[in-house]
Amino acid sequence: MCGIFGCVSRDAEVAPIIHAALKRLEYRGYDSVGIATVHGGKIYIKKDEGKIDQVHRIHNLDDLPGSIGVGHTRWATHGAPYQANAHPHTDCNDEIAVVHNGIIENFAELKTELENSGHKFRSKTDTEVIPHLIEENMRKGLGLLEATREALKRLKGSYAIAVISIHEPEKIICARMESPLVLGVGKDAVYCASDIPAFLPLTNRAVIIENGELAILQADGYEIRSLEDWRLIQREAETIEWTAEMAEKQGYPHFMLKEIHEQPDCLRNTLRLQDQYLDLMATFLDRAGEVFLVAAGTSYHACLAASYMFSKLAYLATHPVIASEFIEQQGMAINIDSTILAVSQSGETADTLAAVDYARLRAATILGLTNVVGSTLTRVSRAYRVQQSGPEIGVAATKTFTSQLSVLAQLALRVAKIRGKIGHRQIEEIEEKIKQVPEIVERTIKKNEAKAKEIAKKFKDKSAFFFLGRGISSATAMEGRLKLMEIAYIPSIAFPAGESKHGPISLIEPGFPVVFICPRDETRKTIIGNIMEMKARGATIISVIEEGDEEIKKLSDEYFEVPSGLPEILSPIAFIVPLQLMAYYIAVEKGLNPDKPRNLAKSVTVK
Ligand code: AGP
Repeated sequence: MCGIFGCVSRDAEVAPIIHAALKRLEYRGYDSVGIATVHGGKIYIKKDEGKIDQVHRIHNLDDLPGSIGVGHTRWATHGAPYQANAHPHTDCNDEIAVVHNGIIENFAELKTELENSGHKFRSKTDTEVIPHLIEENMRKGLGLLEATREALKRLKGSYAIAVISIHEPEKIICARMESPLVLGVGKDAVYCASDIPAFLPLTNRAVIIENGELAILQADGYEIRSLEDWRLIQREAETIEWTAEMAEKQGYPHFMLKEIHEQPDCLRNTLRLQDQYLDLMATFLDRAGEVFLVAAGTSYHACLAASYMFSKLAYLATHPVIASEFIEQQGMAINIDSTILAVSQSGETADTLAAVDYARLRAATILGLTNVVGSTLTRVSRAYRVQQSGPEIGVAATKTFTSQLSVLAQLALRVAKIRGKIGHRQIEEIEEKIKQVPEIVERTIKKNEAKAKEIAKKFKDKSAFFFLGRGISSATAMEGRLKLMEIAYIPSIAFPAGESKHGPISLIEPGFPVVFICPRDETRKTIIGNIMEMKARGATIISVIEEGDEEIKKLSDEYFEVPSGLPEILSPIAFIVPLQLMAYYIAVEKGLNPDKPRNLAKSVTVK
């Protein structure tokens, strides 16, 4: 939800460094921001509600003294986005400053206890209990490190924190429980951050901090200890292949548009994944008693599409389950024969990790598909694959969705090979087609971007949309709908087209936009029937069709064309692209920022 950053430099003034890093973290949450440094026995703080540029214009976030500091960009969970609730938070005497990402579930009782022993609170946040707990422990004679460790032991919930203090002004203490935390090791400085893009322009040497670990950063290095038994943990920094440029906009007006255009290259990357890991995952899936595909948001839509791939290619029945409903919906059925394939681009989504943790406790096998090396999902999975899409900065998932689909299709094909349910020729044919997907997506972008701009102008003021598809295209419809809702704020409904006459069609009136996803597959005849039903009630038809599909073109008021040749189970990878572009350009037409949709954050690390 939030983004934290810390920097200990040998001699540089760190405020400008922290300011720039918070800009790179802004996609994680951006309703308030703050920086604190320690210098000359004093903590300096600047924080306020609002986006970083706004706060900088008022407070000048580069102008804080000192070569040690922490920063925070916020997505409010406790306490509205006021200045008082912005991080960093301090103790009673402003001698300790803390930034935090996560939720302290038992903060209310800790706050009461601390207030009863005289502590004065200045915010409505859960986080503020942390500096006061540390202060309380120091009042009892503990040093900053022990005081922080004891304070952390009292916390229930999730946290990634960074602490600075006048008591040990040459150190940053940071620690993690569930929320992501990674260190960056530079030549003359050490950094801690919620994710790697934050320090990528400064260093590509990273150290992943695991759950229940605390790290002490100084300008010449870092030390990691287990919170449980204070054991010293040796962990070398690993080199991250991502370049800083990969995390920049490269001339595009928004990260989302850049990432839509990056899809062909990302899809090529998915074709270079090491076989042995995919084969291992396929073996687990083949042997599983029951398979659950678990994820949230866009990743759930990838799971929904994958359920069609697994059944059609491998005759493997799978259960796509929305992560936040997994325990309620399937919990009691999970056992040692269950296999969970958890899909999460960030690898940090709390709902998905909670489902995984629950299943692990019931001895299920966990498989993971993620985009982030070293993310929590990789560490709780028996076997996992990193899809290599590069950093995705735009809050709306685009390139990670199409890459997830490509990897899941390759996985389904490998299970099909193991099971021999479909002939080798058919498998080779689809393997050939998967190799053509990057180029087909490239042509789809070229062919439809201008059309998307046109359609955006015409439909930007519409008050609602329908997205309909049949078979695997119902997953494409769900994803198209989510993109339009999350970045253009237009209420939209998506459902399998066969459902429309069981209720939703009552909403149709003249001019109501209905988007149909219509690849040339077995569902074609029935989808034409659904188009006719909607047209008969005056709906405006926007269809996504295969090139040269004159019949549906004639039935449509507007249409996007996708180069033909993709088998049905791969169609969502290309058919979603025009809908990504349409949502993007409608948001731009409405003067919205597609990269930072209101009320959303890139990685949802709270349940
Ligand atoms: C999609 O555009 C959204 N950002 C959101 O629904 C996202 O897909 C969801 O939060 C899951 O994220 P994950 O893939 O990182 O787990």
